[in-house]
Amino acid sequence: MALPYCEQAILFQTTQYVAAEVADQERANADFPPPKQREQNRSAIEHELWRKTLRGKLFLSPIEKLDHVLDIGTGTGEYALTHANSQVIGTDLSPIQPSYIPTNCQFEIDDAEDEWLYRQKFSLIHSRGNHLSFQSPETVVSSAFNALARHGWFESQDIVLPLKCDDNSWEGSAIQKWNNVITECFLLSGRRSYVEEYAQMFRDVGLDNVTERLFVWPVSPWPQGPRNQHLRELSQIARRNLLEGLEAFSMVLFTRYANMSKDEVLNLVQNAKDDFWDPKYHVYMQV
Ligand SMILES: C[S@@+](CC[C@H](N)C(=O)[O-])C[C@H]1O[C@@H](n2cnc3c(N)ncnc32)[C@H](O)[C@@H]1O
Repeated sequence: MALPYCEQAILFQTTQYVAAEVADQERANADFPPPKQREQNRSAIEHELWRKTLRGKLFLSPIEKLDHVLDIGTGTGEYALTHANSQVIGTDLSPIQPSYIPTNCQFEIDDAEDEWLYRQKFSLIHSRGNHLSFQSPETVVSSAFNALARHGWFESQDIVLPLKCDDNSWEGSAIQKWNNVITECFLLSGRRSYVEEYAQMFRDVGLDNVTERLFVWPVSPWPQGPRNQHLRELSQIARRNLLEGLEAFSMVLFTRYANMSKDEVLNLVQNAKDDFWDPKYHVYMQV
């Protein structure tokens, strides 16, 4: 089949949203595995997925001298910790970062939507997987612009929701049904998907040289043949990443916003999980 788009990368994880809902879910589903541990596992998988997507690079911005780096919404901190040759600050609402860290790295609990009070300017401000984090992404982009050093870059790596299937091969499948339900739940929950508005937001605050690079994460094993080796490898990790959190975030959202019972959710998720292994469905995430 023809590749959807060009090289697009859409990340589909809803981590922040899940994190916000985790306390309720723990109360409601005491038999679920501990969300924190699950999230840390998923985070490590997703970090690997991004590294493979960008062919080992940590960023695509053409930065000549990388000194101070800020990683907002750093999560468990994998990205910040991978920068070995610069001073890195990773910030997050939640204290889920490791305690033993290299001297070039520090973590701070901070809300990226509050006023930024950093003493230094940054040559790279990085945001990854924050597609559902912010009430006002415009505020965050504006703060980032003001905190950039001369010739500094703001780079956002993120997922576009919902899943896509250009040739409609998923017609009637459980994946399509699952995708429809989750799309409806996001709408009903009032979450705004703003990743596709980033480029304009960047321009609006005065950032120059705004470039958008699009990639694809196939989530079912449709990429075949030697030419699609890279996509096939991405697909293996993307599917693992998605399936890792599928039941947990579906349970929270579908019972709350789609009026589904726990059994109905488990049934739909199981059927969707089965479909995600079927190469006849040409499903992908755009990142
Ligand atoms: C999907 S995770 C991404 C984690 C990390 N950037 C990565 O790529 O692995 C989103 C993170 O953003 C954090 N977050 C959400 N809202 C935030 C805010 N307003 N300020 C700072 N961090 C926030 C969440 O706690 C969560 O750890």
